[in-house]
Amino acid sequence: MIDQILEAKREGQALDSEQIQRAVNGIVDGSVTRAQAAALLSFIFLNGMDVDETVALTEAMANSGDRLQWLGMPGPFVDKHSTGGVGDKVSLVLAPLWAELGSRVPMISGRGLGHTGGTLDKLESIPGYRTDLDTDSLNRLLGDVGCFISGQTAELAPADRMLYALRNETSTVPSIPLITASILSKKLAEGIDELVLDVKWGSGAFMKTHAAASRLADMLCRVGRGAGVLTRAVLTDMNQPLGRTVGNALEVKEAIACLKGEGPGDLATLTCDLIGDPRARSVLASGAAYERFCRMVHGQGGDIEAELLGAGCESVDVLAESAGTVTAADAYGIGRAAFQLGAGRSRADQDVHPGVGIVVHRKVGEAVSKGDPLATLVHAGQGLESARQLVIDSYTLSS
Ligand code: URA
Repeated sequence: MIDQILEAKREGQALDSEQIQRAVNGIVDGSVTRAQAAALLSFIFLNGMDVDETVALTEAMANSGDRLQWLGMPGPFVDKHSTGGVGDKVSLVLAPLWAELGSRVPMISGRGLGHTGGTLDKLESIPGYRTDLDTDSLNRLLGDVGCFISGQTAELAPADRMLYALRNETSTVPSIPLITASILSKKLAEGIDELVLDVKWGSGAFMKTHAAASRLADMLCRVGRGAGVLTRAVLTDMNQPLGRTVGNALEVKEAIACLKGEGPGDLATLTCDLIGDPRARSVLASGAAYERFCRMVHGQGGDIEAELLGAGCESVDVLAESAGTVTAADAYGIGRAAFQLGAGRSRADQDVHPGVGIVVHRKVGEAVSKGDPLATLVHAGQGLESARQLVIDSYTLSS
């Protein structure tokens, strides 16, 4: 059977949902060999998959493990996924804000590889914050607080873990149907009714061009809807960092300021646009969502009063060498600078430093005099010189 499936995909034919289900089941139970799975991924990479095939792949992957169910409490159950950017701390603001507006947000998040840690790494800079909650605790939090942000359990979409590792080994990661099924299978398994996707484009994003991000957003929406979830996408510019901080604890502080109604405008605007509720702005500005964030942190074992981990780092300013107006504060370069300082990881088994990162003082359109700080490097003695050079190279000023 797997031979016929491989031959069909090799010849560019569309697979039906039964074939796709069989292939995914075989990959998970080991009856499809790694070589066969790698061949299938390569044929999908080269020949693509249409929307119906991608819906079937997504559902088969979601069904490969537990599918969470939120019994005994009213919805709607909603979540957001971001394709990832530099300074992207939206989840920390969005989950409690959306819960404050009356939805329930069962947010299963990741660490990821990147310039800074993922959402879980950021939250883990709060002393005691636990990201490994069991299903009963998740149920209780969702019922009592209306939101949680926790890690993926081993039982959630195991097919994605296996396929993602194989995609990394076979250079088949950048495939729109494979990315779509990977992202959506984990979200379907969360038991949500509605999903909003923050699909980023630009130098600091996975998708470098607006056109590529738009193709991914279109596929994600069509497949999400095909799988029965109300799915929307917002395309966002990731050519400069979001907000003014890049780094784990630094981003938590900025997210907390935003929850108190004192955050940077771009972070507040994007969070509210993603939620898409006309009340979001005024509720965010009122600071009411901060209290819910505190309840979530407390429910996950964190101590909101305690100093964030990683305190005690030193700071060095990067100064403007001339006067002008900022025309670029390149997200990729600033992200790499944060990585040099130790804020991110390139291998899953690496630790991130909670305290280090970059504070961005000047963004595009802002004026600067010679000697003004463009950014501050918050460091622990690692990577300082290369980070400084990367930040200098990231800025373009017009005189
Ligand atoms: N994020 C995912 O979860 N999967 C992909 O394939 C790419 C980004």
